[in-house]
Amino acid sequence: MDYTIYKNRRNNLKDLLPENSVLLIPGADTQYRNADSSFPFRQDSNFYYMSGFCEPASLMAIVNNKDGINSIVFVPPKDKLKEIWDGYRAGPIGAVEDFLFDKAFDNTHIDTMLPDILHGSEQVLYPIGKKPGFDQKVIDWTTAASSKDRHSKSINIMDASSLIGNIRLIKDDHEIDLIRKACDISSEAHIAAMKAVKEGDSEQNIEGLYIHEFSKRGARYPAYNPIVAGGENACVLHYVENNQMLNDSDLLLVDAGCEYEMYAADITRTFPVSGKFSEEQLKVYEIVLEAMNAAIDCVKEGNSVMKPQEISEKVITKGLVKIGLLEGDPEELHKSGAYKDFYMHKIGHWLGLDVHDAGDYMEGSDFMKFKPGMITTIEPGIYISSSMDVDDKWKGIGVRIEDDILVTKDGNENLTKKVPSDPHEIESLMS
Ligand code: GLY
Ligand code: MN
Ligand code: MN
Repeated sequence: MDYTIYKNRRNNLKDLLPENSVLLIPGADTQYRNADSSFPFRQDSNFYYMSGFCEPASLMAIVNNKDGINSIVFVPPKDKLKEIWDGYRAGPIGAVEDFLFDKAFDNTHIDTMLPDILHGSEQVLYPIGKKPGFDQKVIDWTTAASSKDRHSKSINIMDASSLIGNIRLIKDDHEIDLIRKACDISSEAHIAAMKAVKEGDSEQNIEGLYIHEFSKRGARYPAYNPIVAGGENACVLHYVENNQMLNDSDLLLVDAGCEYEMYAADITRTFPVSGKFSEEQLKVYEIVLEAMNAAIDCVKEGNSVMKPQEISEKVITKGLVKIGLLEGDPEELHKSGAYKDFYMHKIGHWLGLDVHDAGDYMEGSDFMKFKPGMITTIEPGIYISSSMDVDDKWKGIGVRIEDDILVTKDGNENLTKKVPSDPHEIESLMS
């Protein structure tokens, strides 16, 4: 494996970091589910983006001074016994030779060495408030660095979240290849689920099917907890219990995407358990699909990131009036926000190493404009819970459709179009 791509990312910080500054990026720690049973380790996304290095309890310090970029990493020390139990560690030598850091040290030396590394710099940047306990550590290291020489310049602490997030916002070719693969695998899993679901099935069984379909294509983990929601459960936006039986007459909403080599896909499809949409289900579905297509058309270079949001609200409002779920003038209803009873979330979010990926949505006081290399989800929905004051025939219908859209030079590319969203194509796939 060649880690030059990560070294280049660190070196590219030369033009982005202030002169005479240090960027600190903490890696993730092992998380425990209960007692001493740990969750599978997942590296922090910022740390991974700048290193490709996947051992816990590591810390990166990228120093930018007149000599250029000097990247330093603290990693778990080599340890014969621990390596017998838990597996190979690169150690400081491996971190330099394989991961191409300029310098590397045991992470047991962090507290003693960090003040020296920060000493003489004017700014220390790091993602503030993201890792429990880390804020206090930075303050302690900075205080210790300043106290080394009371006549040196003071060290300002600054948030690096936007700086790193906005670098991650524009995906390079390597990242696009991996996200494309995550999207392909996830699309194939959705197709398999549409083909497999049958009367008497359970949400849990379908969840298991997705995990298996991901895993057999090389993606061991989902990128987030899958939402497998039969019938009215779809109206709970973050439903993850996934423990109910499916009714033949219900829709099944599945929001599931895999993580492939650290990159996420995020797909939602809503399909009838029986393989055939009812009249009311189809009417609601077609409004969401129209909103979806109109919103995707707006994802292009130069458009505001709010444009797909606005168009989806308008299409959904008009559709709800058409089928009698809202009454009045669509423009007035849009202005008053009446659609929010049915469509209460935003149209999408950035996608990348994290499913809700890093990167700002505002640029100064304006909304960000789409640029080639950005990837956003588009995910309109309509949710009609049985507590709503509507005709009974609509109750319990929840529909969301979600695709992953890459902004290109000429418009956009739908990375998840492989899995059908057209209701007739879904029905024919399920027949
Ligand atoms: N799967 C989480 C989301 O769609 O935002
Ligand atoms: Mn999403
Ligand atoms: Mn989703």
